[in-house]
Amino acid sequence: MTSTFFIKSSKGDSKHIKRKVLLLGDGAVGKTSLIKKFVLDKFDDKYIATIGTKVTKKELEIKNNGESIYLTLMIWDVLGQKGFKGIQSASFKGADGVIFVCDFTRKDTFDSLEEYWLPILGERGANIKKVFVANKSDLEANAKFSLAELYELASKHSSDAYSSSAKTGENVEELFMSLGKTLIGVEQVEDEDEEEAIDLENLPDELDVVEATDRVVKDFCNVYGDMELAMPVIRNQFKKAGVDIRNPSKQGLLKVIDMLADVERDFRGEREVRENRTKRRLLVKKVKE
Ligand code: GTP
Repeated sequence: MTSTFFIKSSKGDSKHIKRKVLLLGDGAVGKTSLIKKFVLDKFDDKYIATIGTKVTKKELEIKNNGESIYLTLMIWDVLGQKGFKGIQSASFKGADGVIFVCDFTRKDTFDSLEEYWLPILGERGANIKKVFVANKSDLEANAKFSLAELYELASKHSSDAYSSSAKTGENVEELFMSLGKTLIGVEQVEDEDEEEAIDLENLPDELDVVEATDRVVKDFCNVYGDMELAMPVIRNQFKKAGVDIRNPSKQGLLKVIDMLADVERDFRGEREVRENRTKRRLLVKKVKE
């Protein structure tokens, strides 16, 4: 995703850089809210869980020794529900930076950073710039861990840490700008080979419905070729089928598999569409009741 290019402007040469950043952290910690506050300066008390991934673009102007650098951030909001490792790790492809978010009022969301989010980022995380954020600082009276603990974690990864509030706006601009500045001059991270979403030779004996959904979604993204473009299509098919992507029934998932096959017919041959449908259905068969 890293790309650097120069354009001529009336003020001379200006540097334009594009970087991909992800927000990672448990459900309802405030990832969507932080993006909304930063990009639109708006806050909403309603909670609508992110389904899959959503991408928002924001242009920043960063001054460096009198020169303006125009940084386009492609900000990926990744669903926080655990178990969707396939979708979550597929979104890491080409990422330059990660904002790890936890919620001051829930200690488990802080523990998850070390127990779940850093591990799934894995080795590729070594080259990705990171910022650690404890959100909902407006609810400080209910804080279940301290900023010092967050600093300690961040320092293990040579990174900055912030407390923030998407509600009041505290530190929201600062944390994105801090990551933006660190990202300028960052070399592109090589992608690891993609793991196959559905490997028929090595199907697990048993899996739960979330794991099956995760693999079906990732498999469709692989066939579609672009996760950013595939995700809205997938969301739409779940919606049309009346199926909750975060907690589908086996029947619901089978229905969605059929609908995804219909979509695939527009850009793949009949034989491949049928094969994909069959392997996805096989996966659902392995779901324990
Ligand atoms: P997923 O999509 O499930 O991963 O959740 P998320 O991390 O994107 O959380 P979201 O932004 O949807 O926020 C969850 C809830 O927390 C919503 O009701 C928000 O209004 C609320 N919220 C988010 N940030 C803050 C904050 O800084 N302060 C307070 N008081 N509430 C917040």
